[in-house]
Amino acid sequence: MSNIIFLGPPGAGKGTQAQLLSKELGIPQISTGEILRKAMREGTKTGLEAKRYVESGALVPDDVVIAIVRERLQEPDCANGYMLDGFPRTVYQAEELGKFAKIDVAIELQLADEIIVNRLSGRRVCPKCGATYHISLLKNGEVCENDGEKLIQRPDDSEATIRNRLRVYQEQTAPLISYYKERGLLKAVNCEDSVEQNFQKVLEAING
Ligand code: AP5
Repeated sequence: MSNIIFLGPPGAGKGTQAQLLSKELGIPQISTGEILRKAMREGTKTGLEAKRYVESGALVPDDVVIAIVRERLQEPDCANGYMLDGFPRTVYQAEELGKFAKIDVAIELQLADEIIVNRLSGRRVCPKCGATYHISLLKNGEVCENDGEKLIQRPDDSEATIRNRLRVYQEQTAPLISYYKERGLLKAVNCEDSVEQNFQKVLEAING
């Protein structure tokens, strides 16, 4: 089972779990959010187009992200499998994905809204390598463990934008839970425990 989708609300831990699984399975983590943020930092045409959607917590237009993923999956490192983190996010994206990729499993990470707000308002990210941390778990101050870079807070992690992202998730992305359930591909994992405990549950869901 090596073509994997991570589904779930903002802050459920998709990026955290996908990073761990990428190391465990040796397959790439493809985060559309990270690709869009990199394009924004570099000021590319896609980045300029995406900026106003990402910063308000709205979804970037389907055709933009579908083109990004279609192109990324053609890279040689995807030949033995990949993890999609944050894609698809609408039923239309899922239908289009089905035309150029065969998905083996969709892991739904579940987490209550009040825990989400706490996790996202405490999130810090490395602007250089994209690694994600939570302030409560940092041991050596707000610097990246990989490259020593000073960590930053994402602009869309303000409380008002988090609430908007949760609303957008319920309206536009949650229907994908039934979409993948009907196709026999859905596995749900409750993510209220520690990162390590959640990772064990993710591994069981994939291997089970
Ligand atoms: P994206 O980057 O995908 O954001 P998201 O889905 O909102 O998800 P997050 O990255 O916020 O959360 P996560 O589930 O990865 O949680 P994390 O592991 O970081 O998308 C951003 C934007 O890009 C979107 O709003 C949209 O505009 C656009 N976009 C992206 N894809 C798109 C698409 N397909 N279509 C259209 N638009 C798209 O964890 C959160 C925090 O909790 C971290 O601090 C982490 O350290 C901490 N944490 C994790 N697990 C635990 C734990 N067990 N205990 C304690 N803390 C924990």
